[in-house]
Amino acid sequence: MLHGKRILLIIGGGIAAFKSLELIRKLREDGAKVTPVLTKAGEQFATPLTVSSLCVDKVYRDLFDLTDEAEMGHIELSRAADLVVVVPATADLLAKMANGMANDLASTVLLATDKPVLVAPAMNVRMWLHPATQRNVATLREDGVSFVGPVEGAMACGEYGPGRMVEARDIQDAITVALADKALKGKRVLVTSGPTHEPIDPVRYIANRSSGTQGTAIAKALQGQGAEVVFVTGPTNIAPPAGVEVVNVETAAEMLSAVEDALPADAAIFAAAVADWHVTSASDSKIKKDINGIPALVLAENSDILATVSQLKEGRPGLVIGFAAETDDVIANATSKRERKGCDWIVANDVSPQTGIMGGDENEVVLISAEGADAWPRMGKTAVAELLASRISLALGGEET
Ligand SMILES: Cc1cc2nc3c(=O)[nH]c(=O)nc-3n(C[C@H](O)[C@H](O)[C@H](O)COP(=O)(O)O)c2cc1C
Repeated sequence: MLHGKRILLIIGGGIAAFKSLELIRKLREDGAKVTPVLTKAGEQFATPLTVSSLCVDKVYRDLFDLTDEAEMGHIELSRAADLVVVVPATADLLAKMANGMANDLASTVLLATDKPVLVAPAMNVRMWLHPATQRNVATLREDGVSFVGPVEGAMACGEYGPGRMVEARDIQDAITVALADKALKGKRVLVTSGPTHEPIDPVRYIANRSSGTQGTAIAKALQGQGAEVVFVTGPTNIAPPAGVEVVNVETAAEMLSAVEDALPADAAIFAAAVADWHVTSASDSKIKKDINGIPALVLAENSDILATVSQLKEGRPGLVIGFAAETDDVIANATSKRERKGCDWIVANDVSPQTGIMGGDENEVVLISAEGADAWPRMGKTAVAELLASRISLALGGEET
């Protein structure tokens, strides 16, 4: 899959450098040629001998190594790759990249390259959350640098929180997608997002706490990989990604009809939190307080959008993904939901109030497929979207997920 691809791998000075060794092995198994650059601090965590043995290539370490310059100078090194990958991307390397510094081989190569750059940050939670790092990350995203992770988890320093590097497999997926050059080009993907509003009368409605953050991030990530995205969204305060086809709806019934209109599609991702019921006794005029006492709301079940599309006899998208917002027995409930609805994958999460997930910026999901349950660590909703988009790209490309 990566046959003949050339990857320049910059290994920074963090504990997570050990994962770069597993990554090298995986990339080489995939047929890639990996040229390693070790920072001075990186050498403290991964020995040049180990790295060069795994890469079966020379390790580049010093900007002023004349032999290197004679063999392959830093400019040539930065251009000879198809992709530059930084694993782990330390706070220091992110800061240098964001500010255009070039005071060692790694930062000089990163400044000189004309190739896409993918970084896998890893650092202590305070370092990651520090406004300086967050500013640098925002700048780098603006500059077109791709990120994979970080996720939330236990740190080598004993603290817990966001800043932990993703696993080698996730970086391998992100590299495969980055090198696929708009892996979803030519694919039409439908994404639903946000809550639905079920009217009680013209001014009141039944809704839920979905903010649309996760669905919007997924639409953006898929579009970033070249997909033509139809974005069917319930009422939210979040701007839809620029360039996607937006269909605004209010009720579950409107969402179903917008979804049916948007088909056919290669994949459909149902991230919206669709109301299960609507009010059959909804009034056309505002229900007056006190006139007839407290109104009794009569509810009826809404059509199940996920099941309807999953079970289509004709025109079913090749990949149908549902979301399961659970508060108990997440994996068991989501696994039976996948079978009941007939979809391919379920992205399940625990939306109990104490998780802060519904309406928050982070998510902790389990991806349920025919192969079983794959639990992802807690991470930002953008990171979840990027990882999911990678998996979707690989699935639509006919690769094993
Ligand atoms: C034991 C140890 C672990 C470290 N782990 C990290 C880390 O995970 N992330 C990080 O950004 N910096 C970490 N640092 C600090 C970096 O090594 C330091 O900022 C260094 O200058 C980074 O250099 P580089 O960016 O050129 O690799 C660690 C330092 C030590 C001593």
